[in-house]
Amino acid sequence: MVNSRYEGATALVTGAGSGIGQATVIRLVGDGAQVVGVDLNAAGLDETVARLGDLAPAATMLVGDITDQGFVDTAVAAAGDRVDLLANVAGIMDHFVPLDALEDELWDRVLGVNLTAVMRMTRAVLPAMVAAGSGSIVTVASKASLSGGSAGVSYTASKHGVIGLVRHVAYFYGPKGIRSNAVLPGAVNTGIGASSAPTVDWAMERAMASMATMPAMAEPDLIASAISWLGSGEANNVNGAILTSDGGWSAA
Ligand SMILES: NC(=O)c1ccc[n+]([C@@H]2O[C@H](COP(=O)([O-])OP(=O)(O)OC[C@H]3O[C@@H](n4cnc5c(N)ncnc54)[C@H](O)[C@@H]3O)[C@@H](O)[C@H]2O)c1
Repeated sequence: MVNSRYEGATALVTGAGSGIGQATVIRLVGDGAQVVGVDLNAAGLDETVARLGDLAPAATMLVGDITDQGFVDTAVAAAGDRVDLLANVAGIMDHFVPLDALEDELWDRVLGVNLTAVMRMTRAVLPAMVAAGSGSIVTVASKASLSGGSAGVSYTASKHGVIGLVRHVAYFYGPKGIRSNAVLPGAVNTGIGASSAPTVDWAMERAMASMATMPAMAEPDLIASAISWLGSGEANNVNGAILTSDGGWSAA
């Protein structure tokens, strides 16, 4: 699909090598954007390019770690003079580890990717957006941004934290023409299972109870379509929104 929703626009997408980030790159390129996609996973980025087929020239892929400020600066510079859309998608799970079993290393790693790196990416695009008087940031949060039973303590705290970041940017930078919104997926069929396997039995049993009302898994392009709309001019009156895309799970 190629349409004009993002014609002439540049988008920066993290987590572009897998799952929701990969689907977002494909969606935005189809919507007419030039896209810079970043990920740690070089093979995943190659797969994204392959899936773009003839549209691949519209995308530039960069391998790197968004917890590294130097790489964040490189990624933003690669997008050029202006970034119309930043899609903060990259994230990792925390193996459902509850607080009493938590080691600082896991907390630091999960908060580092899911919260601090999102802050750094967002901070890095602000100057160009403020100068342009426009820009849009969509941050992928989670059902775990709203409740305590869908992940371990690190993931849950990180995903609650990004809601505060999203709302801060919406409030302080809205008058400067910048919109900041969140999309909250439920269960999505992606590669995040690699950091989801439970390591503490009783905590997983407890989490399973909260999953009793979980709808069927969504495919990543359903989340990408929400990101595309929320980031676009069609949503120009939407700022600071917390948009669930979870098949109604959080309504249970
Ligand atoms: N899949 C789900 O069920 C689900 C549910 C709710 C929220 N989410 C959120 O959706 C987002 C995307 O996750 P996904 O499900 O597509 O997972 P995924 O594992 O398929 O993709 C995440 C990508 O982020 C990349 N990444 C991780 N750390 C990085 C870093 N430091 N620097 C650069 N890239 C990095 C990974 O290499 C991977 O390619 C995450 O923020 C996740 O928390 C996912």
